[in-house]
Amino acid sequence: MALTRIAGLSLQAQKTFFIETFGCQMNFHDSEKVAGSLVLQGYRQVEAAEDADLILYNTCSIRDKAEQKVFHRLADFKRLQKEGKKFAVIGCVAQQEGERIFERAPHVSLVAGSSSYRSLPQLLVQIEQGERATGLNDRETSQTFETEFTARTNPHRGYITIIEGCDKFCAYCVVPYTRGRERSRTSQSVLEEARRIADSGLTEIQLLGQNVNSYRDPIGRASFAELLAEVGRVPGIRRVRFTTSHPRHFTRDIMEAIDTVPTLCDHVHLPVQSGSSQVLQAMQREYTREQYLERIAWIRAARHRSIAITTDMIVGFPGETEADFRQTMTLLDEVQFDGIFSFKYSPRPNTPALAMENAIPEEEKTARLAALNEKQREIQRPNYARHVGEIVEAMVEGYHPARGQIAGRSSQNKPVNFTIPEGSPPPAPGSYVPVRVTRAFPNSLAGELATESGVEPGKSLAEAPGPCSRI
Ligand code: 5AD
Ligand code: SF4
Repeated sequence: MALTRIAGLSLQAQKTFFIETFGCQMNFHDSEKVAGSLVLQGYRQVEAAEDADLILYNTCSIRDKAEQKVFHRLADFKRLQKEGKKFAVIGCVAQQEGERIFERAPHVSLVAGSSSYRSLPQLLVQIEQGERATGLNDRETSQTFETEFTARTNPHRGYITIIEGCDKFCAYCVVPYTRGRERSRTSQSVLEEARRIADSGLTEIQLLGQNVNSYRDPIGRASFAELLAEVGRVPGIRRVRFTTSHPRHFTRDIMEAIDTVPTLCDHVHLPVQSGSSQVLQAMQREYTREQYLERIAWIRAARHRSIAITTDMIVGFPGETEADFRQTMTLLDEVQFDGIFSFKYSPRPNTPALAMENAIPEEEKTARLAALNEKQREIQRPNYARHVGEIVEAMVEGYHPARGQIAGRSSQNKPVNFTIPEGSPPPAPGSYVPVRVTRAFPNSLAGELATESGVEPGKSLAEAPGPCSRI
């Protein structure tokens, strides 16, 4: 029996796949799980589309530009169909466009949204038999996508999806239509995965979800804050991050967890989208500027450390007046974000904002975006400069021999590039080292290994006890 299975597996292992991912971290992690499912089906992952029997595109439809990318890619690689290769479009564009994708790109065999990934093994069998397959009807499911194997590609950070889908229906956003209903995994399964990640030697975990703080344990009672704290206490884990939080459900107990569990990182990403309460109401965000600022005050009041705060902003939402936009600009002054991701509003299919009047002309959106980014650059300069002279703990992510620099990241999620004494070996990727910050740029810090702090260069601190944030 075992022999047959092994023989079967080795035969199937001839099949290869290549997966390209567009969009957010959630999508990147979905791809790691999809790849895991394919490996369990006997496929082998390859690094180039040309070498694969099956080419998958895991797509994003959050903005029009992201959506168009996959159609360009499909056109570019159409010629490979002649070699017998099969194509699959999965993720948000797949769910949004459904079978229309077959019309636009007839060489595609499989179209599946993220709520249908559980059915991938059956869908693969169908396409292997030369049929077309679709997985598009599972958006109402209450089940999550659990995989026996996840083909993790990030060598330093283990991602864990704790909640899938979104029930928020913000007026501009396509996600509730593409990712389906909100559904949480059990805390038991999340914690088991966290322990497996720690056992595999990774020391950093990032909890993922469209709205992580809407998390509800389907069988136990764990709130998001309790789950976060538990993950932070898993032996071997030194850094825990989470994204994305919705301000409406950002409750004080999350800050209490951060105050009491030192492995929870010094960073909160809290998308605000606009500084104007009128625009927030039109966006159906369910909080006002004042309520958002109240959450910021909680974060600023963290007991032991300074927490970096980043956000997402949309400019040019329908009806956004000059005065509304000024409110967004003054919010930047008031909060002093450590970083922002800013976007021009992009009309999306199915969303309520699509039918709204008073669309903002493209040139005006472009001008507002430029003004916003310019202001944020001014704010970030002193924000990053404040770190000069500090010793920050960096997790080593890579080595640039040409620049003679090691790339790392602080607990606040700021890139920290640093040098090491000549002749000493570079510290191991994934290790934690103290860096004396000597220079600051608007988006990164630079410095040198702080050897006199008692840490030998090149020596991994990964096993050393202690929190990620305080050195
Ligand atoms: N247009 C522009 N930006 C959008 N986002 C979501 N939907 C849209 C849209 N229709 C942005 C929001 C969100 C981030 C992931 O993408 O800022 O937080
Ligand atoms: Fe991620 Fe949203 Fe893009 Fe889907 S549409 S891939 S959920 S960012």
